[in-house]
Amino acid sequence: MSTLVIYFSQTGTTRAAAEKIAEIKKADLVEIKPERPYEMSYVKTVWTSMKEILKKARPALAMELPDIQKYDRILIGFPVWCGTAPNVVLTLLDALNLNGKHAAVFTTSGSTKPVKLAVKLKKAYPETRWHKPLNANGMTEEEVRDWM
Ligand SMILES: Cc1cc2nc3c(=O)[nH]c(=O)nc-3n(C[C@H](O)[C@H](O)[C@H](O)COP(=O)(O)O)c2cc1C
Repeated sequence: MSTLVIYFSQTGTTRAAAEKIAEIKKADLVEIKPERPYEMSYVKTVWTSMKEILKKARPALAMELPDIQKYDRILIGFPVWCGTAPNVVLTLLDALNLNGKHAAVFTTSGSTKPVKLAVKLKKAYPETRWHKPLNANGMTEEEVRDWM
């Protein structure tokens, strides 16, 4: 089964998880790159993120879209921001057509687990065949292997 891991990371934690998952699942790896990088200051990013959530913003991407037709399943990783997915991840989900694809999210966070945001994604993209999300905080290789 061919797998694509696609991730967004501001400070590297999700990148490390994505690299580990891609290695274990023998998957291709693609980074989600916003055209306008987020500030490295936590407070400024929280502010930007809250504004984007309220405005339902879709920040522009500075990357080529992967050809998802080549893959049977897509694993999407990101940090939890303000309880949900960063809007730049939604830009990507809008741009890719994941209808009928097997997909799942994995997240890193201070403590928030991905269950609620995964339910929201399921509602927003109902044609995607969503599988259970993975909390990638402190994940083990066994958890990754058992996942999906
Ligand atoms: C804008 C912003 C909002 C955040 N909101 C949450 C949150 O709601 N819950 C939580 O547990 N952690 C939250 N965090 C912490 C990040 O999810 C956590 O540090 C994550 O592992 C960072 O991943 P990265 O290094 O890949 O960017 C937030 C961090 C930022 C910058």
